[in-house]
Amino acid sequence: MPVLVITGTGTEVGKTVVTAAVAATALAAGRSVAVLKAAQTGVRPDEPGDAAEVARLAGPVTTAELARYPEPLAPATAARRAGLAPVHPHEVAEAAAKLATEHDLVLVEGAGGLLVRFDAAGGTLADAARLLSAPVLVVAPAGLGTLNSTELTARELRSRGLEPAGIVIGSWPTAPDLAARCNLADLPDVAGAPLLGSVPAGSGVLAPTVFRAAAPQWLAPRLDGSWDAEAFRVREAPGAF
Ligand SMILES: Nc1ncnc2c1ncn2[C@@H]1O[C@H](COP(=O)(O)OP(=O)(O)O)[C@@H](O)[C@H]1O
Ligand SMILES: [Mg+2]
Repeated sequence: MPVLVITGTGTEVGKTVVTAAVAATALAAGRSVAVLKAAQTGVRPDEPGDAAEVARLAGPVTTAELARYPEPLAPATAARRAGLAPVHPHEVAEAAAKLATEHDLVLVEGAGGLLVRFDAAGGTLADAARLLSAPVLVVAPAGLGTLNSTELTARELRSRGLEPAGIVIGSWPTAPDLAARCNLADLPDVAGAPLLGSVPAGSGVLAPTVFRAAAPQWLAPRLDGSWDAEAFRVREAPGAF
């Protein structure tokens, strides 16, 4: 699994924090890691973007960004409005493939959800994943509303001949409500893909050393971690199903 594409059901669902957890866990397992943020929107040239945030939390990773646009919009729209060149899916795929020749693992974080457009031709992260034949990890919210958007994302991946590698819950609340608890059973069911981890709420503001030490416990063995979905269900949602 040299390239893993990380998408989400939308924006602000925890893609960057999950990417950092996956990176930290791979680093702890002795693998070299690169993080590619295909298009970074909503930051000025001097501000840290998502790739820098991953490096801050996870540690020594190679970071790369193909383009940066100041407005917090879909990359295609932000590029058009800024009069800047868009990023095309084949450029994302080429950059990831190149990083994969020099690293054990390349994490590609999209912008927003799977079908957010990168260019005027409607190119998306899904097209880049397809060009790379890369597995796609879906980051999903914990609570009410996540089943529909997660199933739609999984279905869209399959309709393009891509297999969802699994789902990671971006932010698991300290006191999960009934919907979140039931979703531990329903998310893998509707997605037809396994739950591969759950990042506790608040993890993004942990000290980096604490984040790095804890991250392997949030992710399943498929992602080099020690998280056990069944044990998590028993602990977090006793009696919910
Ligand atoms: N598990 C978490 N713990 C703490 N903060 C989180 C967690 N997940 C997300 N956040 C916060 O929520 C916001 C959105 O998360 P982020 O990973 O940037 O989402 P995305 O990359 O999907 O847009 C950020 O401010 C981030 O710090
Ligand atoms: Mg992000």
